[in-house]
Amino acid sequence: MTTPTWSLRRLHAVDDAQIDGLAGVLIDCVEGGASVSFMHPLLHDRAVAFWRRVGDGVAAGDRALLVAEDARGVCGTVQLVLDQPENQPHRADLSKLLVHRRVRRQGLGEALMRAAEGMARDCGKTLLVLDTASAEAERVYERLGWVRVGVVPDFALLPHGGLCGTTFFYLNVDA
Ligand SMILES: CC(C)(COP(=O)(O)OP(=O)(O)OC[C@H]1O[C@@H](n2cnc3c(N)ncnc32)[C@H](O)[C@@H]1OP(=O)(O)O)[C@@H](O)C(=O)NCCC(=O)NCCS
Repeated sequence: MTTPTWSLRRLHAVDDAQIDGLAGVLIDCVEGGASVSFMHPLLHDRAVAFWRRVGDGVAAGDRALLVAEDARGVCGTVQLVLDQPENQPHRADLSKLLVHRRVRRQGLGEALMRAAEGMARDCGKTLLVLDTASAEAERVYERLGWVRVGVVPDFALLPHGGLCGTTFFYLNVDA
């Protein structure tokens, strides 16, 4: 087994260099055709603006953010949206699992998901929900015990055009 070339950590504040690195990962995923809220081409300023809003949410305690870094900088990320309606305090949405194409298929997606589950536990969350338009991501989630709920057809546009469905999953997090 090869030793991972990345390290994972939770950020409680997001600085400019980290925002720049996160923007680079998001742009790479959109360029690669991932349906993650944005259309191609995703300009740097727009990606930076998105991560600044995420950073504000992290600072406010509304989001929990994990990043993976290798020798070249940020190479992966995932986040939990902790801020939920008052009748769902036990729940979080898992969002924006992103791995840069340069480090895919080495186990980082799975490592981020395992770490996100631990982070959910630390935050007192017992139910996680996500949706995805990625077959690769679906396989990661199913390997980790997430339960497939179903597919909503024509949910979103792919970044290069054309509609795609999205699949909803949930995970009960053990205490
Ligand atoms: C989905 C995504 C996060 C997966 O990230 P990843 O780091 O490649 O995931 P993993 O490496 O854990 O697993 C991917 C595959 O590599 C395989 N793999 C893991 N480690 C490996 C290794 N050391 N050697 C060979 N293969 C390996 C896994 O078994 C898995 O195989 P499968 O596709 O046949 O199931 C990534 O493709 C991505 O960022 N996509 C674009 C954004 C996106 O769609 N995100 C999902 C939003 S919900």
